[in-house]
Amino acid sequence: AATLREAAAAQGRFVGTAIADGKLSNTTYTNIARTEFDSVTAENVMKWDTLEPSRNSFNYAPGDRLVNFAQANDQQIYGHTLVWHSQLPSWVTNGGFNATELNSVMTNHITNVVTHYRDSIEYWDVVNEVFNEDGTLRGSVFQNTIGQGYIANAFRAARAADPDAKLCINDYNVEGTNAKSNGLYNLVSSLLNQGVPIDCVGLQSHFILDQIPSTLQANMQRFANLGLEVNITELDIRMTLPADSAKLSRQATQYASVVGTCLAVANCGGITVWGFGDVDSWIPGVFDGQGAACLYDNNYAPKPAYNAMLTAF
Ligand code: XIL
Repeated sequence: AATLREAAAAQGRFVGTAIADGKLSNTTYTNIARTEFDSVTAENVMKWDTLEPSRNSFNYAPGDRLVNFAQANDQQIYGHTLVWHSQLPSWVTNGGFNATELNSVMTNHITNVVTHYRDSIEYWDVVNEVFNEDGTLRGSVFQNTIGQGYIANAFRAARAADPDAKLCINDYNVEGTNAKSNGLYNLVSSLLNQGVPIDCVGLQSHFILDQIPSTLQANMQRFANLGLEVNITELDIRMTLPADSAKLSRQATQYASVVGTCLAVANCGGITVWGFGDVDSWIPGVFDGQGAACLYDNNYAPKPAYNAMLTAF
């Protein structure tokens, strides 16, 4: 295959990227985005602070730009994300809502957003990052105010607004088998037992060079065995800067191994990278001294990781 999307499609998988709204006017960027990927995730513009910056006032223009881009390029859209403690406007966090009120604020947000994008979205990350590292539920405003039933409520509201979208739970540090992924496994098992509409698990997969979890496949398989789709949703593999050819070569091998793991799990729907160019990556801004985590370099030249991923599909 000549492109990632052709290679992935030949295996019945999607290959996606996060898209930065501010880059949609850069033709070098958009040419790679449209040629190489058949799935797109909004890096930021489908988060609560963009979509509903003040109560019941919805701002869809940036998200609609991504929908238009995707439709013009025959790409699916992976919606990210309906309920998350981060990039959440302060009118929600500090609104002083009681449980009934916050539940209605949350379901109103979900109903509006999911209805607006009903005909264009394939997947929704309904809840994002709801776990602590020890596998207990994070003390977000939703958890602290409504209690853990907010998660089931969120999935039910999303299903009611779009019966066709696949509804996912997404998190980080849940790629290998550990306390956090055990918490995730227990939660989704119990949601399924209660008949809560959940279709998929997203493993963010913000990996560190030389530290891809050895239990990735076994962990993906246990979610698959529950009947769920399991996707790699935000892949990047960061290294301590400066990059050198030895590190880039190991990074390439490790990108290929993640592809191989997805292909080895029948219910792995696909892989999304969290941006394709190092120049756009969120990593250097958040992890001091780390970077070079993506498939393309700062000038959008393909790195060894790109060729390894292409070959691995
Ligand atoms: C990040 C974006 O890449 C940044 O541009 C933004 O400033 C913060 O959020 N987990 C997620 C993503 O689910 O939404 C985050 O994206 C990265 C970590």
